[in-house]
Amino acid sequence: MGKLIGWIDDRFPLMKMWNEYLAEYYVPRNFNFWYFFGSLALLVLMIQIVSGIFLAMHYKPDSGLAFDSVEYIMRDVPYGWLIRYIHSTGATAFFVVIYLHMLRGLMYGSYQKPRELIWLFGMFIYLCLMAEAFMGYLLPWGQMSYWGAQVITSLFGAIPVIGDDLTLWIRGDFLVSDATLNRFFSLHVIALPLVLVFLVVAHILALHEVGSNNPDGVEIRKDKDEKGIPLDGIPFHPYYTVKDFFGVVVFLYFFSIVLFFFPDGGGYLLENANLNPSDPLMTPGHITPAWYFTPFYSILRAVPDKLLGIGAMGAAIVLLFFMPWIDRCKVRSIRYRSNVYKINLVVFTVSIVALGWLAMQHVNTKVTILSQIFTLLYFSFFIVLFITSKNEVTRPIPDRVTE
Ligand code: HEM
Repeated sequence: MGKLIGWIDDRFPLMKMWNEYLAEYYVPRNFNFWYFFGSLALLVLMIQIVSGIFLAMHYKPDSGLAFDSVEYIMRDVPYGWLIRYIHSTGATAFFVVIYLHMLRGLMYGSYQKPRELIWLFGMFIYLCLMAEAFMGYLLPWGQMSYWGAQVITSLFGAIPVIGDDLTLWIRGDFLVSDATLNRFFSLHVIALPLVLVFLVVAHILALHEVGSNNPDGVEIRKDKDEKGIPLDGIPFHPYYTVKDFFGVVVFLYFFSIVLFFFPDGGGYLLENANLNPSDPLMTPGHITPAWYFTPFYSILRAVPDKLLGIGAMGAAIVLLFFMPWIDRCKVRSIRYRSNVYKINLVVFTVSIVALGWLAMQHVNTKVTILSQIFTLLYFSFFIVLFITSKNEVTRPIPDRVTE
């Protein structure tokens, strides 16, 4: 074994990479369970790529065949149902994991200097993931796939001057059709996954350059021993490889429960309307996007003017990119920040959940008013943070990590 590794090492930096990224990569010793979600996101990315490859072997990106090819996968391909449910449950798991990963970033101020680029790459990953999920959702070519794509692509029509031409260009036809299905397939299976993998590599390279933050928000690289090893650091391997493996087992436990017992999530993960083939002449009564888009859909519906609604929806995402500059506090972790910050973050999180729930309800005056209130609360998070963070009264931060 040693000889083989030596042979490879003379030709390729195998051990150098192993040491740099795992065995001699020192990370804070006080990671808590919030730190599982980065490695879990990597796991789900791999699950999606592998299950997607097998789905693409049997799926037909043709408007006359797509729906039936999915039925064929579900009924006739050996274990086709398993592959499809892994992929559809994986999409939900991806967003659950990513939302918790982002919330951790907000709680511990992991976007603050010097980690701005990690956050920015993360936000580009998030955008790419949303595009990936949206395009994948068209592929089963059911009613909800079709009308969801119709609604979202028609939003571009509200843009002044170029709107109609832009919509036509995106769809490749006057309505969502075979041309749309073909291009969404191509983007979903190759272009976006490539971009996603590239961004994830950049995200992790940026992380290794500056090192991880931690629940105390204390920089561990400032206190080193005579060998240059951070006093509060432990090597990623074996400590966190073992710990992350535990996280993987717990994650797979919950993933399997959904996969084997509730793959359609009561109509929320795989919507009932999508069991009918798409019909351009029959609009379903109640069109809702997949659950992970619903908060933004609520913001869109809350604003009476279509163009302004699209602007608000876009702003809701764009503002997150600017978190490193909106938050002007010098203290990172929520543990040592003011009550104003804590309440602000709780209200923000609650408003996202509430907006998500409201998007799934039939529109009526009550739903609209509540959506407007929670939309205002969503945006007030950024305003309050910008105003209060500069002179925030914080608790003293410890010199070294506390656990
Ligand atoms: C495919 C998606 C993603 C993957 C595979 C991924 C992977 C990772 C990994 C492995 C880590 C280090 C372990 C950890 O801190 O949990 C990490 C850290 C981080 N990620 Fe992500 N990530 C993804 C998406 C995102 C998104 C969408 C954001 C936010 C916009 C984000 C923001 C961060 C930040 C700020 C850190 C540093 C955290 C700290 O040191 O406290 N990531 N990511």
